[in-house]
Amino acid sequence: MFLGKMTRAGLGMIAALGLSTSIASAQESVEVLHWWTAGGEAKALQVLKKDLEGQGVSWNDMPVAGGGGEQAMTVLRARVTSGNAPTAVQMLGFDIKDWAGEGVLGNLDELAAKEGWDAVVPDALKGFSKYDGHWIAAPVNVHSTNWVWANKAIFDELGLKQPGSWDELIAALDKIKAAGYTAVAHGGQAWQDATIFDAVVMATGGPDFYQASMIDTDPDALGSDTMKTVFERMATLRGYVDDNFSGRDWNLATAMVINKEAGVQFMGDWAKGEFLNAGKVPDQDFLCFRFPGTQDAVTFNSDQFVMFKVGEDRQDAQMKLASAVMSPSFQSAFNVVKGSVPARTDVPNDAFDACGKKGMAELAAANKKGTLFGSMAHGHAVPAGVKNAMYDVITAHFNGEYDAATAVEELVNAVESAQ
Ligand code: GAL
Repeated sequence: MFLGKMTRAGLGMIAALGLSTSIASAQESVEVLHWWTAGGEAKALQVLKKDLEGQGVSWNDMPVAGGGGEQAMTVLRARVTSGNAPTAVQMLGFDIKDWAGEGVLGNLDELAAKEGWDAVVPDALKGFSKYDGHWIAAPVNVHSTNWVWANKAIFDELGLKQPGSWDELIAALDKIKAAGYTAVAHGGQAWQDATIFDAVVMATGGPDFYQASMIDTDPDALGSDTMKTVFERMATLRGYVDDNFSGRDWNLATAMVINKEAGVQFMGDWAKGEFLNAGKVPDQDFLCFRFPGTQDAVTFNSDQFVMFKVGEDRQDAQMKLASAVMSPSFQSAFNVVKGSVPARTDVPNDAFDACGKKGMAELAAANKKGTLFGSMAHGHAVPAGVKNAMYDVITAHFNGEYDAATAVEELVNAVESAQ
């Protein structure tokens, strides 16, 4: 319409001034809500931003700090309620299903069919990327959450080997503590407490118990003696955390390991992004290994960009964003920096470092063996209401409000009333 009314001379002038491209690019923009504000996360996001800018799509950044995305989800609710949804939103697991159920998401079917997403995205992720058979989100990565990140100089200094069992872990933590270091770097925020809890559940009860308690929320499993042992172990770990842990951001806890103030951190592999961002090298400066007792299993979460329904003028840029996220070269470049592994199964591991290669191999093995589970802490095991009920009990116990027996009772009750 606009161009139709222009005179030839007018059009010529626009071309001469090089304005036609700037008009086009001013129209092409995406607004993206996310919580990737730590150094390593921001660096990874730059990869996507650059990719889109290279295609003439400008990036409107909407960061909402807070690992795990709780605050981001609150801000999102306000935006959607006021009828002003962003183009795309970083989101986890069950939250995606909730938003899909509200009928406010876009439809990526055409692009997905053209690019063959069905064949390369594993079922565990597709369960969240699709709703009622329609593609609504583009999965960026797979993080696994049952990792230990260790300072290698401290391990070498104290002659420590990578612990393979609970008892070996405690023996190592005792030595680190006795040498004057903080043994466990931790940030006291509910999602961080829950990240450790996931690992302790898996280590203590094994895969079947994880399935029964964290995914099926079976009251017998939640109320079992095994769960009591889980809480006792959480209290034991609490004894290795420093006094200032309350409210600390996860990346500041990672920095304590990087700076040789602390021995280990129990955290998902986004922590690796912080080590890399600080110029550290796996196996040389830091070690990555599975939480002792969970060597054969992987708890995962996958960041997905969920596409909201937007006006026609914004749809082309939205599809460019989705397509960029799903391109194999982007999935390699991004995840190398982020610490995660590609969501697509057909991306070669060549560009990944030792921890990344290990992560990819272990994810594939766990998937084959049936020991790949969604992380409760990161929204891939139960809906948000149940997750938050679990968070409350885990955090109250970690802060000494309940003993293990009371925590078990509280857990059973809290989950029951949240369902
Ligand atoms: C997770 C998210 C990761 C990571 C982490 C800390 O929920 O999946 O990508 O960034 O939070 O912010």
